[in-house]
Amino acid sequence: MAIVETRKLTKVFGKGEEGAVNAVDLETRDGEFLVFLGPSGSGKSTLLRMIAGLEEPTAGDVLIGGRVVTRLPPRARGIAMVFQSYALYPHLSVARNIAFPLKAHGVPRERRLERVHWAAQLLGIGHLLERRPRELSGGERQRVALARAIVREPTVFLLDEPLSNLDAKLRASAREELTQFHKRVGTTTIYVTHDQVEAMAMGNRIAVLEKGVVRQIGTPREVYNEPADTFVATFLGSPPMNLVEAEDVIAGFRPESLIPLAMVQGPAAAVRFRVTLLEYLGSERILVGVIEGGRFDGRKVISRVATASSGGIGEGTAHDFAVPEQELKFFDRATGKRIAPRVLQWR
Ligand SMILES: Nc1ncnc2c1ncn2[C@@H]1O[C@H](COP(=O)(O)OP(=O)(O)OP(=O)(O)O)[C@@H](O)[C@H]1O
Ligand SMILES: [Mg+2]
Repeated sequence: MAIVETRKLTKVFGKGEEGAVNAVDLETRDGEFLVFLGPSGSGKSTLLRMIAGLEEPTAGDVLIGGRVVTRLPPRARGIAMVFQSYALYPHLSVARNIAFPLKAHGVPRERRLERVHWAAQLLGIGHLLERRPRELSGGERQRVALARAIVREPTVFLLDEPLSNLDAKLRASAREELTQFHKRVGTTTIYVTHDQVEAMAMGNRIAVLEKGVVRQIGTPREVYNEPADTFVATFLGSPPMNLVEAEDVIAGFRPESLIPLAMVQGPAAAVRFRVTLLEYLGSERILVGVIEGGRFDGRKVISRVATASSGGIGEGTAHDFAVPEQELKFFDRATGKRIAPRVLQWR
């Protein structure tokens, strides 16, 4: 059964303005970790807030557990939400912060203590219960905010960029913890981010949004390997997919698909590749350069290769490279939508 479902869910903020969210149909699966991924302003927060009941839809419906909840207030929806700027009560201890939603719902003291210890244990903050928020690190505060959200055992967990105010290192470990936590509790979760690495690492499925429209929804593998259009193709992956325009199609290939010719097995399109810039990343190198000769002469492309297998390559040198045929993706020039594979003339 779909836990959260939206039907033609739409939000238009001002008269005559474009919709922030446009007729979105989506379904989460029970226990799934679904990520909303998209650039700033693509409607991720607005969509999440409508699911939570914090924003009134202009049109369409929200269903939770098969029940239409569009007109119900947030507290009647069985959801818990953590925002980017979660606020802990500074004058209350960690234990009291976590217990707050239970107290507000009149849960008896014994039961409150039980729940607080359960949540604190799950998030590894059992030893911090007597501290005040200001005596905690950023990551610990984050965990307190998560603990406070889960004490009531919501059926759905909505998270809007909850890791964005952590530094890069803490963010990576918090990401890991959150994934582990989800595996343990199995609560259906919707997680908003504009960080494609985070989306790929955490999501069971990813919904890619642009201008209030879901461009594609699928597993990380599907959206990466089988992008529905040029937007999804270039939004996921760093550096992004190379796109070259031919008469009636756009051909795309990932940087890791443009490799030294000697390494290729099977049918492939060979090109002469002149490297103009080399970025050393340790085990890998990013090679920025241009195609020399043929119909794509002068086209800028990017290759990503293992350092170990690209020893002789330096800036200013040209080499025989190739793209294996099965790694070419094709898109319609007019619509940007992906189309069936075809033969591309390179020469
Ligand atoms: N309260 C509001 N009033 C008017 N316009 C709004 C309001 N909230 C959001 N918008 C507009 O709706 C669009 C989507 O905003 P939203 O906050 O959902 O984007 P987002 O994908 O969450 O972006 P970000 O990654 O920056 O958080 C934007 O164009 C934004 O300016
Ligand atoms: Mg947002």
